[in-house]
Amino acid sequence: MTMNAGETSTLRVLRFVEQDLLARATLGNMNWPGPRFTLEQIARIPAMAHYFTEWPGTKDFGLVAEDAKGSAVGVVWLRYFAAASPGYGFVDESIPELCLWVAEAQRRRGLGNRLIAGILEQARSSALPAISLSVETGNPARFLYERHGFAPAGLGFDPGTLVLYL
Ligand SMILES: CC(C)(COP(=O)(O)OP(=O)(O)OC[C@H]1O[C@@H](n2cnc3c(N)ncnc32)[C@H](O)[C@@H]1OP(=O)(O)O)[C@@H](O)C(=O)NCCC(=O)NCCS
Repeated sequence: MTMNAGETSTLRVLRFVEQDLLARATLGNMNWPGPRFTLEQIARIPAMAHYFTEWPGTKDFGLVAEDAKGSAVGVVWLRYFAAASPGYGFVDESIPELCLWVAEAQRRRGLGNRLIAGILEQARSSALPAISLSVETGNPARFLYERHGFAPAGLGFDPGTLVLYL
C-alpha cells in the first residue's frame, strides 16, 4: 500500500532557530501564482519580511511537517502583529495571523490540511479567541481554509481577510 505524504509526514513544534525555513515558506507564499519576488526583495519589504524576521514573538508558535528523512516539507505558524505594522490578514492585536506553506512536490496530499488541523488543536487548547489570515483572490488555498471554518472578516476588511473564531 502506498501512503501519501499527508499521512507519512511527522508534525513537530517549529523551533526558535528556524527563521530560514520561515523565509523559504514566506517566499513560497508570496510566489504562489508563480515567480514574482526574490528572497532579497521580500527581505527588504517590511510588510513581507515580518512574517519571518524577529521570529518568534512572545506568543507566536508553529508546527513543521517532516518527511521520513527529517527534512521540513511544510510549516504552519501563527504571528501576532501590532496595529502599527499589521500583516496582510490583520484583524486585531489579540488575534494571531496564520501562515501556511507546503513544499511544491508534496502538495495536494493532505499535508496542508493536517498542518491546519494541528495548529487549530493547539490554538483551541491555548484558548486563543480567533485566528485570521490573508488569501489572495484566485488562490485555491481559500477552499482549504473555508473547509476549516474560516470566513470573511466582514465589513471594512479586504475580502481576502478570513477569520476563524475558536
Ligand atoms: C496552500 C497549500 C499550503 C496547501 O497545501 P496542501 O498540502 O496542498 O493542502 P492539502 O492537500 O491538505 O489540501 C489541498 C486543498 O486545498 C485546495 N487546494 C490547494 N491547492 C490547490 C490547487 N492548486 N488547486 C485546487 N485546489 C487546491 C483544495 O481544496 C485541496 O483539496 P483537495 O485536494 O481535496 O481538492 C500549498 O498548496 C501551498 O503551499 N501553496 C503555495 C503557497 C500558498 O498558496 N500558501 C497559502 C497562502 S494564503
